[in-house]
Amino acid sequence: MQNYDQLKNEILENINNASNLDELEKVRVTSIGKKGMLSVLMKQLGSLEPNKRKETGQKLNLIQKDILVSIGNKRNVLGKQQLDKKLENEKIDISLPVRPEATGRIHPLSRTMDEVISIFSQMGFTVAEGPDIETDYYNFTALNIPKEHPARQEHDTFYFHPDENGDRKVLRTHTSPVQIRTMENTTPPIRVIVPGRTYRSDHDATHSPMFHQCEGLVIGDNLNMGHLKGCLVDFCRVFFGVEDLPVRFRPSYFPFTEPSAEVDIGCSRKGGELKIGTGEDWLEILGSGMVNPRVLQNCGINPDQYQGFAFGMGLERIAMLKYGIPDLRPFFESDLRWMKHYGFMPFESTSIHYGAN
Ligand code: DAH
Repeated sequence: MQNYDQLKNEILENINNASNLDELEKVRVTSIGKKGMLSVLMKQLGSLEPNKRKETGQKLNLIQKDILVSIGNKRNVLGKQQLDKKLENEKIDISLPVRPEATGRIHPLSRTMDEVISIFSQMGFTVAEGPDIETDYYNFTALNIPKEHPARQEHDTFYFHPDENGDRKVLRTHTSPVQIRTMENTTPPIRVIVPGRTYRSDHDATHSPMFHQCEGLVIGDNLNMGHLKGCLVDFCRVFFGVEDLPVRFRPSYFPFTEPSAEVDIGCSRKGGELKIGTGEDWLEILGSGMVNPRVLQNCGINPDQYQGFAFGMGLERIAMLKYGIPDLRPFFESDLRWMKHYGFMPFESTSIHYGAN
């Protein structure tokens, strides 16, 4: 009996001394495992005489139970220690500073386009679109620019190869063809703007082969030049943010409008610095006019019943003027330093309001 208690104490001590789960498992195997000390003793019970066998058997069973309980307890303790250690090792150090993240900017042209759309939409205009690749008919003929008309030469057109009928498609040289497409498909009244890409074979500090225009078209049954003036004066004043901005209408010529006018805004150029809204000088910013009755006719609209006005402006040009950008070329060079300087933070309000809120 003495022996057994000693054995039990030794095993319990070994359990107690186990410093990790592997060691504990070794103690379990060597004590109560299939070939462990206790199992060997149990197997020997058969050779004892019946009385002794019973007593020893009970004793060994109790020892085994104690060992099992002790191993269970120790396993819990070691398991918890091991988990704590693991958690400690895997701790994320949230005190590390994050890497600086570059914030994208809104391109000044996108910003300008948003502003123009915002202003005209507050005047009741909707946005219309058309294809960049146009037929000669929509880009020129329907707009009262027949073949051999000198206005065609002014457009530096990009032509496609002629098709089997000898017709050459073009990259649209202005957004005006969308006037025709809109009038063909819509019964007046019409009030649309057409912001979009346009193309001309021209490249210098103020011209790019691809650029953007915004067209405007209003058709109704009681429209006159006063409506055109009111609409464009309001637009210029709101866009440039100068309430009493001087706006001048200068007689001009476009084949698709009659009469036609170019619109200038007041500015000063003292000391080489351009200031919009003050001074004695003028700056041309857009073309406009009353829609030529021939154009209405080309679209199946009766000029005796309907009149209208139209206008067109270069978006890069008004962006450059409003935001003081001297050169057009970097607009399309994707230089991040330029974007950082001239771009706008996302979510910055355009804060442009036309009329009473
Ligand atoms: N399409 C003209 C251009 O590209 C701009 C223009 C002028 C558009 C007068 C119009 C307009 O609608 O009425 O130069």
